[in-house]
Amino acid sequence: MLGAEIDQLETVAPTTHIAGTLRVPGDKSIAHRALILGALADGDSIITGLPEGQDVRATVAGLRSLGVRLSPVSPRGSGWGLRVSPAPSSGQSGWGFATPHGPLDCANSGTTMRLLAGLLAGSRVSATLDGDASLRRRPMARIIEPLRRMGARLDSNDGRAPLIVTGTALQGRHHVLPVASAQVKSAILLAGLAASGPTTIVEPEPTRDHTERLLTAMGADLRVNSFPPPLAGEGRGGGHTIELRPSHRPLRPLDLGVPGDVSSAAFWMAAAAMRPGWSVTIQGVGLNPTRTAFLGLLEAMGAEVVVELASAEIEPLGSVTVVGHQLHAIEVGPADVAAAVDEIPALIAVATQAVGVTRIDGAAELRLKESDRIAGMADGLRRMGTAVDERPDGISVHGPAALRGATVSSNGDHRIAMALAIAGLTASGPTTIEDADCVAVSYPDFFTQLRAITGEEA
Ligand code: S3P
Repeated sequence: MLGAEIDQLETVAPTTHIAGTLRVPGDKSIAHRALILGALADGDSIITGLPEGQDVRATVAGLRSLGVRLSPVSPRGSGWGLRVSPAPSSGQSGWGFATPHGPLDCANSGTTMRLLAGLLAGSRVSATLDGDASLRRRPMARIIEPLRRMGARLDSNDGRAPLIVTGTALQGRHHVLPVASAQVKSAILLAGLAASGPTTIVEPEPTRDHTERLLTAMGADLRVNSFPPPLAGEGRGGGHTIELRPSHRPLRPLDLGVPGDVSSAAFWMAAAAMRPGWSVTIQGVGLNPTRTAFLGLLEAMGAEVVVELASAEIEPLGSVTVVGHQLHAIEVGPADVAAAVDEIPALIAVATQAVGVTRIDGAAELRLKESDRIAGMADGLRRMGTAVDERPDGISVHGPAALRGATVSSNGDHRIAMALAIAGLTASGPTTIEDADCVAVSYPDFFTQLRAITGEEA
């Protein structure tokens, strides 16, 4: 047993084979949004398939502090189910929220903080949003500025958390976003729901559209003019305009089963892609086209990817099988990065096994995630014997590399821990990951499932 003050270490043994069928936790992005939007509906929503990770728990706790009732329902399959009962409307606080007794702890979750800030900006309550050391370092000016243009009252620690939101009346505005960010887009849309006049948003590249899909399903007056999602390897920029008009119709409650998180599934797809003959099938995984660019990138590198769509209601889902073949390097540009932003660490791990130099550009946003993901992957892979060139907005990986096991750090970032663990499967000795317990923010069972698909233990 490790002492509480000692970071948890996980050791990944090299493997000769990967095979299996598995399911992954529910999609974090969809879960946050379904819970938050459920709190605005005209009745109770039922959300099942919720992930057990700490990020979504932070959103649940935040909503409870605002007087929203969230009570367990039977899970309908895997994950966790909740009935969301909006707080009774007092007539004194828009959306019916209660003033929380203390700061809302968003923990490690940028989505929780940015979406709750948008939600509360147009309410009639005040709240402080805070988080852990990583979240306190992350940029919040990107939501503060557009929300202030709508009239929001927001104070911060020089553009960082803690944020103090004092709910007030808002006006809709036209926003041209300088960075592609679904969190910023969603914060503005949540504020736009409470604003007078239309809110429009132009994105530099299309980003995940879960907020738009859920709002549409709930009957909001929302229009989207979108270009199709970028094709793998093309680096083609796009445009995406979203218009939300105030509606006097109440939002309909949701009845939603959250599909498996394709960003968590990406680690298994990456693992299978790394060696000819390795294979994995992930069932019940979300296949929203704004989230599946990583599958196209793996295919462009030479992996075999088979997708079977099972259902396409609010959020499409199905199964994905990836079979490894000899891989070759690709070039990845800004549109691909925006469309696969959370999968880039896994892609960097895969690139170590591709022939040639895989070059990723337009990825400055990766330095602003739970950790600096370009630096974290570069450091870990160099320790494992890969030649890597780092740039302010990108990285190049020279492959194929004969990886050797090493001690590497997650820097407290769940996706770095999982990407380096996957790289460790192809190394010549054991890889020890420091601070590996951070996987709990999105995927508490990750290391157990890793041992299962490598046949190390059932
Ligand atoms: C998310 C959007 C992305 C992503 C994050 C979840 C979301 O962040 O990296 O893990 O749920 O909207 P940005 O919007 O900052 O790119």
